Amino acid sequence: MIALHHPPLRTELPTFERIGLAPDSRAALADVVARHPQVVRIIAGHVHRSIVAELAGRAVVTVPSTYLQAALDFTAPKLRMCPDPPGFAVHALRDGTLATHLQRIPPLA
Ligand SMILES: [Fe+2]
Repeated sequence: MIALHHPPLRTELPTFERIGLAPDSRAALADVVARHPQVVRIIAGHVHRSIVAELAGRAVVTVPSTYLQAALDFTAPKLRMCPDPPGFAVHALRDGTLATHLQRIPPLA
């Protein structure tokens, strides 16, 4: 598993696209990952959303924030946070198989 702060994927959210990993750098990372079959997952944060994408045939997963979430808005010029539930990920590796669970934290009653 490779853990990064900034995810190597396209979010299509304008604010994150402006500061995301450049396409040539993403391609360079994909070349490295492709040479290492032991890499089964790439995980990241930073974007305050759950997003699943792919790099070199491996799942790239971002986890929700434990605080506010980034609104799902493909046109907003500025990042807008929203009160969607916080969350976290649990990665379960057993017998060589990795399962990633994205767990939301329900509001307090
Ligand atoms: Fe960040």
